Amino acid sequence: MLRLATGLLAAALVALLLDQYSPSGSLQPAGPARSFAPQPAPGGEADRLFWIVQVSDVHISKFLGPERAFDFEKFCLETIPVIQPALTLVTGDLTDSKTKDKLGSDQFEAEWQTYQSILKRSKVMEKTKWIDIKGNHDTFNIPSLQSVRNYYRKYSAWQKDGSFHYIHTTPFGRYSFICVDATLSPGLKRPYNFFGILNKSKMQELSSLATESRDSNHTVWFGHYPTSAIISPSPGIRVAMRSATAYLCGHFHTLGGLMPVLHTRHHHGTLELELGDWMDNRKYRLLAFDHDLFSFTDLTFDEWPVALITNPKPFLYSSTAHEPLQRILHSTHIRILAFSPSPITLVKVTVDGVHLGDAVHVSGPLYVLKWSPQNYSRGFHQIEVIVQDTSGKSTTQHHTFAMEENLSLKFDLFASWLLLTDHYIWVRAVFVLLVMLQTALLILFRYRGKPKFKKPLGTSMRISFSLHLLSKTDLFYYSFLLLSLYTLLGPWFIGEIVDGQIGLCFSFGIVVDGHFFAGSSTFLVGIMQVVFFNLPLMAYTCWCLFLRCQGHSLGSHLRHTELCWAFPIHLFMAVLFLWQVFSCYFLLKTYGTLAFFLSPLRLWTVALTLFLFYCTWKLQSSTMKSFILEMKNYASS
Ligand SMILES: *[C@@H]1O[C@H](CO)[C@@H](O)[C@H](O)[C@H]1NC(C)=O
Ligand SMILES: *[C@@H]1O[C@H](CO)[C@@H](O)[C@H](O)[C@H]1NC(C)=O
Ligand SMILES: *[C@@H]1O[C@H](CO)[C@@H](O)[C@H](O)[C@H]1NC(C)=O
Ligand SMILES: *[C@@H]1O[C@H](CO)[C@@H](O)[C@H](O)[C@H]1NC(C)=O
Repeated sequence: MLRLATGLLAAALVALLLDQYSPSGSLQPAGPARSFAPQPAPGGEADRLFWIVQVSDVHISKFLGPERAFDFEKFCLETIPVIQPALTLVTGDLTDSKTKDKLGSDQFEAEWQTYQSILKRSKVMEKTKWIDIKGNHDTFNIPSLQSVRNYYRKYSAWQKDGSFHYIHTTPFGRYSFICVDATLSPGLKRPYNFFGILNKSKMQELSSLATESRDSNHTVWFGHYPTSAIISPSPGIRVAMRSATAYLCGHFHTLGGLMPVLHTRHHHGTLELELGDWMDNRKYRLLAFDHDLFSFTDLTFDEWPVALITNPKPFLYSSTAHEPLQRILHSTHIRILAFSPSPITLVKVTVDGVHLGDAVHVSGPLYVLKWSPQNYSRGFHQIEVIVQDTSGKSTTQHHTFAMEENLSLKFDLFASWLLLTDHYIWVRAVFVLLVMLQTALLILFRYRGKPKFKKPLGTSMRISFSLHLLSKTDLFYYSFLLLSLYTLLGPWFIGEIVDGQIGLCFSFGIVVDGHFFAGSSTFLVGIMQVVFFNLPLMAYTCWCLFLRCQGHSLGSHLRHTELCWAFPIHLFMAVLFLWQVFSCYFLLKTYGTLAFFLSPLRLWTVALTLFLFYCTWKLQSSTMKSFILEMKNYASS
């Protein structure tokens, strides 16, 4: 639901932000440019080349999708030995950690044992360097890192909490892999665990890791959360990772299928590459460094053969700040990595629709074909590679390449918006504005003189009349003012944010065990509360009060045939009310019984709503009477 809401709100704002979010390929560096030697350039030998694999959001679950774990074991047993990556990065959410009803969250040792037994049975850690990090699901409901419930320490391959720097050393250079650990500690239960947080000391640690990696040929950062879902102190996480070629992450899955490709580029040239989930979509990624040219492809499990064109690389994903792009022009061969469990029979290369020939096998997965890059030094060109194996299966890879640096290609606008926006900032602004709007409306009509109502009574007059009535009746005025300001300032609920630790949830953040976690998804929930409950309830009360002034009672107006449109309005409000009731149930399931009862913004609001509904039709006050009288006089005039 949270994800869908983010999507919808996002769509509305995209139009406004067109200019902001159109990063292009081969962007000129914002900082001082590194100079790269044009040699060694890619040739016909299997040298200066290695590749790695990324997989994300495995979500091994005790209750759901047993095939996830089954296929994951097959991935470790079959896919990894065929590809033989130097390194495998598993970017978080190793386990699902959700309760059977899918609402609550907890750590289940059985899920972790399943994960570990897959690693052990498949012996995958002997075949590749396996680096697995935590995601938000792996930290649900953990009171501290030292807790026995922090199963990551016991059952994962890496086992160490926190950010780190792993160096892959080869005869041809040094390659840095820096992990960003933005998970929370204590680990809150879901759903208020969607954003990662890096405080000052964690950012300093990351900056020193970045400094350590300065002399590496390439630096790749990886983490669970996209940078747009990490709260970090200014100048922010994207600036800290500006020397990186790419940031690899997961967490957004494919946005429920809406965004199968979530790739973009930061202003400093770093690529941000979100990877679809293993959980439902069985995605994984192959990445290669060939003569320090970086390339990658996103793949689906069990679809063979696999092909990756490492030279010439795609123009969209090129960065003059991070790669020796001139090497493409100096290269002598087109280079392709092709993998399959069955022997490869054909690697056919086409450029701009012209068949250049079939690439020949060098060694391992490398296939090469001699070419004259000078022929393609101007403008954009298309390369297409078809790989076939003895089982008769084939795959096609194609992309646009170019060697001029002054060209430009754009990333998908919505993907860029999703990955480059600090979402916790705009949701906060929208939420505060909405609350202020409602409050201002109430105060304005409370203290504004009531105009004389003249015939004919148009829509705006009716709205104004009912707003005056609502704001000038003490009970309604103070109730709605309280509801509005409480949504902004008060604790929404008090309960076990982590088992055994009582905490308070506010719109602006969560306090638990002496820690404060700045608000992010809370603001989104706040927006939903105002837009789908507080404001509609006020409008509905106004409307009912107006009907009452016209002499209707709760039962009578529904029998008036000219008021047949009243029924959908009541129905609409009833649905919103039921949603509020469901939120109470949701709170019970996610944060427990205490939170359910001590929830001013949930259970108490439901009670307040029923009370207000009763008063709308039954309240007898002098203000009410004077308005009713005025309407009567008006009708008879
Ligand atoms: C940052 O968070 C860690 C634990 O998550 C904590 O130990 C450390 O004291 C915090 N640093 C600051 C400056 O708040
Ligand atoms: C890696 O960097 C070193 C030092 O700058 C350089 O000599 C070497 O050629 C680089 N490796 C590749 C594959 O370009
Ligand atoms: C590329 O250039 C070479 C000479 O430099 C020429 O022989 C060859 O036909 C050209 N190929 C294409 C496809 O234009
Ligand atoms: C790019 O620069 C070259 C000269 O270096 C020029 O011939 C070409 O027209 C330019 N292309 C664009 C699209 O500006």
